[in-house]
Amino acid sequence: MSENTVYVLNGPNLNLLGMREPEIYGTDTLDDIAGMLEDHAKGLGLEIHMRQSNHEGHLIDWLHEAQAEGAKAVILNAGAYTHTSIALYDAIKSIKTPVIEVHLSDPMKREEFRHISYVGMAAVKAIMGLGPKGYIVALDFAAEL
Ligand code: DQA
Repeated sequence: MSENTVYVLNGPNLNLLGMREPEIYGTDTLDDIAGMLEDHAKGLGLEIHMRQSNHEGHLIDWLHEAQAEGAKAVILNAGAYTHTSIALYDAIKSIKTPVIEVHLSDPMKREEFRHISYVGMAAVKAIMGLGPKGYIVALDFAAEL
């Protein structure tokens, strides 16, 4: 663990990537994305800590942990908690570690209930609608911080 570590936190239902609504989220699994990110991170001199949970509190604990461990940044795809969780908003506001919001799809072009992002209100940057490449773009952004 060092200041070159980037946490990559993934929220509910993202463990099912690859088989979950592939017409929206594509066919790459979260492990595929992790592999791609690890390769890309090496080229940037970064290390990633990739995690997934279906539980809101785990995501909050990991945001706190990222700061406590001195991580460089957090890339966060909070899944549907993005649109509901004031607790995640507060957690992001509570830490100094910059948080970059990522979504595979573009929630702004989908159902109206996805148009509000509590994560986005606190994050330093939002990247959406680029599929797995969005995580790479987020890592490139983190490298510049
Ligand atoms: C998502 C978009 C969210 O609206 C949705 O609830 C998800 C995935 C995305 O990556 O496109 O679970 O975060």
